[in-house]
Amino acid sequence: MAQTTHPSGTGAPTAPGGEGSSRRDFLYLATGAVGAVGVASAAWPFIDSMNPAADTLALASIEVDLAPVAEGQSITVTWRGKPIFVRHRTAKEIDEAKTVTISDLRDPQADDKRVQKPEWLILIGICTHLGCVPLGQKPTDPRGDFDGWFCPCHGSHYDSSGRIRKGPAPLNLAVPPYAFLNDSRIKLG
Ligand code: FES
Repeated sequence: MAQTTHPSGTGAPTAPGGEGSSRRDFLYLATGAVGAVGVASAAWPFIDSMNPAADTLALASIEVDLAPVAEGQSITVTWRGKPIFVRHRTAKEIDEAKTVTISDLRDPQADDKRVQKPEWLILIGICTHLGCVPLGQKPTDPRGDFDGWFCPCHGSHYDSSGRIRKGPAPLNLAVPPYAFLNDSRIKLG
């Protein structure tokens, strides 16, 4: 026996249920559209509030003058709310950083992968254990067993390349993005 089939959504308008189906489709679509607008307008203030404030954007990158930092000295600058350690390394510190068996390191990384110029070491000064700021920036600070930085909270020692050498921290101090603008000026960020 032959059968008549209709593609979905077609058929006589007077067919039983035809008008009802159309109205249901319309109500469904209209509700869906209102729902989408509602979500969009509710989401906007939330997304907008996540945009950085103008003063934060202004600090997205900063320039640092290295000229006043003598060999053996360190300075700390704040970038995006984080302490950035800038150390003008001595020949001894550079030598210590280079003469390490990389495979012995917990977070193996060669010194020349962490610096752009050997005399300038630039790090985010936040311990990779629980986020304290390690000591070692001031001349009177303890610098740990590896001539770098010491985090007294739980006893992490970092070397003169900022690599973790002893204690609970799992990773080296991070190197922030930066570029040399000239021999004595860098741009962070
Ligand atoms: S936070 Fe630095 S050792 Fe724990």
